Amino acid sequence: MRKVLVTGGLGFIGSHTAVELLGRGFAVVIADNLSNSRAEVLDGIAAITGQRPVWANVDLADPVACRSFLAGHPDLAGIVHFAASKAVGESVQKPLLYYRNNLGSLCHLLEHVAAHPACAFLFSSSCTVYGQADSLPIRETAPIKPAESPYGNTKQIGEEILRDATKAHSFRAIALRYFNPIGAHPSARIGELPLGVPQNLVPFITQSAAGLRGPLEVFGNDYPTRDGTCIRDYIHVVDIALAHVYAIERMLAGAGTEPVEVFNLGTGTGSTVLEVIAAFERATGVKLRWSFAPRRAGDVVAAYADTQKAAAVLGWRAERSLEQAMADAWRWQQSLPRAPQ
Ligand code: UD1
Repeated sequence: MRKVLVTGGLGFIGSHTAVELLGRGFAVVIADNLSNSRAEVLDGIAAITGQRPVWANVDLADPVACRSFLAGHPDLAGIVHFAASKAVGESVQKPLLYYRNNLGSLCHLLEHVAAHPACAFLFSSSCTVYGQADSLPIRETAPIKPAESPYGNTKQIGEEILRDATKAHSFRAIALRYFNPIGAHPSARIGELPLGVPQNLVPFITQSAAGLRGPLEVFGNDYPTRDGTCIRDYIHVVDIALAHVYAIERMLAGAGTEPVEVFNLGTGTGSTVLEVIAAFERATGVKLRWSFAPRRAGDVVAAYADTQKAAAVLGWRAERSLEQAMADAWRWQQSLPRAPQ
């Protein structure tokens, strides 16, 4: 059975990807140090798939721990690397922690792949590398803009490390640039578990609707968009997870045309913050309390993906609607304990 290591496999996107890989017949090993996740996520994965992946609690940024963990898995067909710190604000306060966590772990994993070049490597990147793009929808060939935060910089540098490493060592890699992943598994057994007050829009909406937070603040109403609020490309996390299966299978089939292939993962449709609120209310029948607040520093006006490359090359496109994502996020929220985490 083809074995895939999912780092950060107990996190939001990682857990959904583990589920889809298991469903596709892969054996899954998870490495996750619980820095932003919980061990119970493994129960959710097992409940959905009927299979309990092997889990190692290992800090991949620790070179010795990472090396000794990988020595126990010389037969990996692929690595899907999610494990990373991802809070933009925290990265500004603790840049060295972000560079160590996100780039240290990447280098340690790539050292393994350099020695085992048959192992395919999948890197979690972000649409944040485009900054405010000059034209929309955003194609993969759009210029990379100076990063707004150390977090964003770790994604840009991560892609560069990948490019240099594949040049020197003959392995295949794919970088997937996520737009705004939202939603939860339709079973409500796994979903997003933000610690503290959610910084991202959809978890704040569901926690506010559940009465765990105050009214939503909509950051900015004077952007040059159709209703004055920012536009993003919100994509169901199950669609994102499925793209990882397609990408791993592409690499294992040896079908890549360049050492590092880059794909946008988005729906191709932008939604304003007010449209997201309306979709939530339509999908759930719950009325959201919200008000306008000043713009949030660092927000770009609009970002949505050109999805043609992923469709043509990976044969993948997002199939789930914004309403479906909101309904799934709400079902997940309602399955959680009432106290804010
Ligand atoms: C954010 C990060 C991005 C990261 C992504 C991960 C910033 C500036 N960007 O993207 O680097 O890759 O999360 O998921 O943090 N909004 C509100 N009220 C809220 C929260 C958000 O109005 O309480 C608005 C924002 O202004 C934005 C939209 O909702 O227009 C989406 O925000 P968010 O979910 O935080 O995602 P991004 O900022 O796009």
